[in-house]
Amino acid sequence: MQISTVGVVGLGTMGAGIAEVFARGGVEVVAVEVDERLLEAGRGRVDKSLHRAVDRGRLDTAEHEQIVSRFRYTVERADLAGCDLVVEAVPERLEIKTSLFGELDGICPPHTVLATNTSSLPVTAIAASTARRGRVVGMHFFNPAPVMRLVEVVRTVVADEDAINAVAELASRCGKTPVVVGDRAGFIANALLFGYLNDAALMAERQHATVAAIDDAMSSGAGLPMGPLALMDMIGLDVCLEVLEVMYDETRDRRYAPAPLLKRLVLAGLLGRKSGRGYYRYDSGDPEPALSFTVSEPVQASLRRGSSYVLETLLYPHLDDAVRMVEDNYATRDDVDTAMRLGCGYPRGPLTMLDEIGPKVVADALVQMGRSPSPLMREM
Ligand SMILES: NC(=O)c1ccc[n+]([C@@H]2O[C@H](COP(=O)([O-])OP(=O)(O)OC[C@H]3O[C@@H](n4cnc5c(N)ncnc54)[C@H](O)[C@@H]3O)[C@@H](O)[C@H]2O)c1
Repeated sequence: MQISTVGVVGLGTMGAGIAEVFARGGVEVVAVEVDERLLEAGRGRVDKSLHRAVDRGRLDTAEHEQIVSRFRYTVERADLAGCDLVVEAVPERLEIKTSLFGELDGICPPHTVLATNTSSLPVTAIAASTARRGRVVGMHFFNPAPVMRLVEVVRTVVADEDAINAVAELASRCGKTPVVVGDRAGFIANALLFGYLNDAALMAERQHATVAAIDDAMSSGAGLPMGPLALMDMIGLDVCLEVLEVMYDETRDRRYAPAPLLKRLVLAGLLGRKSGRGYYRYDSGDPEPALSFTVSEPVQASLRRGSSYVLETLLYPHLDDAVRMVEDNYATRDDVDTAMRLGCGYPRGPLTMLDEIGPKVVADALVQMGRSPSPLMREM
């Protein structure tokens, strides 16, 4: 099966970017919104992003025209009847997605693959709401979709192999790197990222280090593109809380039990950048840490034990989580490294970092922290 026409439902942050990716990949796009006002807003998002690409010299005017001509904007879902693939990027609520998929199931011909961009809902539950369970897959893009190269292609236990292959082939054709994974909460990238982000939230809450020290250790020290608390503010603290709750619900792993302070920040309406305040304040010039704790004396003593205290306390368990994911046979080490590089912008994947630091150094440090390294880490 070769996909040549794609429908995108929901032209918000993700949908507009996803539609752009397809059109730039040479595919005809049917772009759908719920009403004319939202359709215009969605078209505006796509146009703005394409104009930016022209301004920056990444597209010439002829390419721009061709790309624009591949779009058809509509508020009629029935217009999706001619699509080989429909990808939805509507709000992250199971009832909205299942109701949409039920409707698409009635509109689209039997060969059409229906894909969800969900970050945390079970793709299997969405598939089960249709009569074509084998042709429902996850197609998880990263924000901003035109920039981030990873696409996690989610295979449920009932997925047709040719649907998975066709979606992975399309992602490659559009310049993305597909990684095929099973249907597990958080897939690869979010499952690894959010355990680490929650650890950073707990560290800030326990005042083991200041907000600035935590972010500095992980950006300057570990070379990650952003510190974890600044990243949570960017994602939105409400979204972080929701993802952690879903992950905790499914795994019952304490690593995902949301930091109590994170819940309180959300309750107080401090949602990060979008609300002007989260772990930082964004109201005047450069962001300033908004949690100003005095780091307590015993903790200062532990910090004096080594300047790498924050880095090791956050990074090493994160690397151990990556090893566990390989040990569980959920993903290969290459897939884990690819997902974190191309989905989260890591300069090197966690397993490459582990090789560089040395598994023995990491395992010994984990034991010192009172954590038990994974059996595979001990073996390594
Ligand atoms: N934002 C991210 O960083 C990110 C990253 C990866 C995946 N996702 C997932 O992508 C999906 C969309 O997220 P987003 O951030 O683009 O959201 P968004 O709020 O920006 O966009 C949602 C779109 O859905 C439309 N919509 C609202 N209610 C609808 C309904 N009842 N039926 C159909 N359409 C409706 C809205 O008009 C809007 O354009 C979610 O499942 C989210 O988990 C988001």
